[in-house]
Amino acid sequence: MCTCSIKTAIVGIGNMGSAHAQCIFEGKIEGMTLSEVCDINTERLNKFAQEHPGVDIYESFDEMLEKGNADAVIIAVPHRFHSDFAEKALTKGRHVLVEKPADVSVSNVIRANKVAEKSGKVYAIMFNQRTNPLFAKAREILKSGELGELKSTTWIITNWFRTQSYYNSGGWRATWAGEGGGVLLNQAPHQLDLWQWICGMPDSVTAFCDVGLYHDIEVEDNAKIITKYKNGAQGVFITSTGEYPGTNRLEVMCDKGKLVLENGILKQWKLSKATSEVCHTSEKSFDGIPFEYSEHNPEGTETGHMGILKNFTNAILYGEELISPGSDGIYELTLSNAAYMSQWKNNAEIKLPLDTAEFDMLLSEKVKTSKYICDESKSESNKQYSERWKVRWE
Ligand SMILES: NC(=O)c1ccc[n+]([C@@H]2O[C@H](COP(=O)([O-])OP(=O)(O)OC[C@H]3O[C@@H](n4cnc5c(N)ncnc54)[C@H](O)[C@@H]3O)[C@@H](O)[C@H]2O)c1
Repeated sequence: MCTCSIKTAIVGIGNMGSAHAQCIFEGKIEGMTLSEVCDINTERLNKFAQEHPGVDIYESFDEMLEKGNADAVIIAVPHRFHSDFAEKALTKGRHVLVEKPADVSVSNVIRANKVAEKSGKVYAIMFNQRTNPLFAKAREILKSGELGELKSTTWIITNWFRTQSYYNSGGWRATWAGEGGGVLLNQAPHQLDLWQWICGMPDSVTAFCDVGLYHDIEVEDNAKIITKYKNGAQGVFITSTGEYPGTNRLEVMCDKGKLVLENGILKQWKLSKATSEVCHTSEKSFDGIPFEYSEHNPEGTETGHMGILKNFTNAILYGEELISPGSDGIYELTLSNAAYMSQWKNNAEIKLPLDTAEFDMLLSEKVKTSKYICDESKSESNKQYSERWKVRWE
C-alpha cells in the first residue's frame, strides 16, 4: 500500500457536505485529506474556515476549480447542479464523487456520463445504502439465477415521515424549480437505486404521484409506481412522507422461490421445483411445492457514507472496483423521471428508454409555475452523518 493521499475539495457544505467535510478533516478516511471547500453561503464558509484551519475556502465553484489543487471533488449542492458541476470538475482533471440523485433530469446525466467516460477519471455516486450487506446478498442471490426468473417485486418504503414544519423550513426543497421533485427525488432515490440494482431495470413505468396529499407543497409527497419487465414480470413501488409508522419491506417473487427483506432480516424460500413447471404438470387442482426456508446473515455491517468515501479513495489510489459507479446514477433517476412523466400524461405507461426531450419540456412547464424563491442558504450544517440516512426498517 502506498502512503499517498488524495487532496479533496467539497462543493456545498450544508447538511450533507459538512458531514463529509468533518469526517475527512478528522482523518477518518485513510488516504484522503480535505484541501478546500466551496459554498455560496459566505457566513457558513467563514465559520468553516475558523473551525478548519488549513482548508482553503472559495465562494465560486469555477474559481475553486481554477485556483485550487485538489485531486478530487465531492459534490453536495442541490440536485439540479450535480451533472453540470461533475462535468466541470471532470473536465478540469478532478476525480468526482457526486451526491444522489445524479441530477434532476436524465438528459443532463447522459451528458455527464459521456464526459466522465472520456475523462478517464474516477466517477462515483453516493448510494451509501448499497453498502448494507443484506442488499448485496439479495442481489447476489438473484444474479446467481438460483431462484429462477423474476415474476413480481414490491417495495413498500414509507418510513420517510416528514412534518409540514420540515417543508416550511424553506430553501430549495420540495419545489419544481429548486429541487425538481418530491419524495421520489429527495427521499426515495436510495431505494429506487437498490430496487433496480437487485431486480434490474424495467421496460416501462406507470405512476400515480399525489402532489401535496399530506402537506402544503407543490411536489409529490406520496407515490405509487408500477413497473413491467422484459420477461413480463411486474413491480410495485410505494413511498410516502405522510404515513406513520412507516414500513420498509422488499419482496421479490421468482419462479423458483422468494426473497423478503424486512426488519433487518433477509428471508429466502427456495422451491424444489419451478412454479411454472408444477403449474402445468401437476394433476392436483390445489398443489404446493416443497421448499427450503433460510435466513441470511451476511458478514459485515453497513459502512454507509464512510464506506463509499473509502471505496472512492481506494478506486483512485489502487484501482478498487467502485461500489456505486457515477454512471449508475442514471437508472434510479430514469425511474423517477418516468414516474413524473406518467403522472403528467394522465398516468400513461411510459416506455423506456425515456424520451428525455419530452420530459425536459414537461418539467420546464412545472418550473414556470414554481413558488421557489432562490435562497439556497436556508439549510442546516450539522457536521454529523444523520441516522436517518442509514437503512431503517421502521
Ligand atoms: N446520501 C445521502 O444520504 C444524502 C443525505 C442528505 C442529502 N443528500 C444530498 O446532498 C445534496 C445536498 O443536500 P443537503 O441536505 O446537504 O442540502 P443543503 O441545502 O443543506 O446544502 C447545500 C449547500 O450547497 C450550497 N450551495 C447551493 N448552491 C451552490 C452553488 N451554486 N455553489 C456552491 N454552493 C452552493 C448551499 O449554500 C448549501 O450550503 C442533495 O443533492 C441531497 O440529495 C444525500
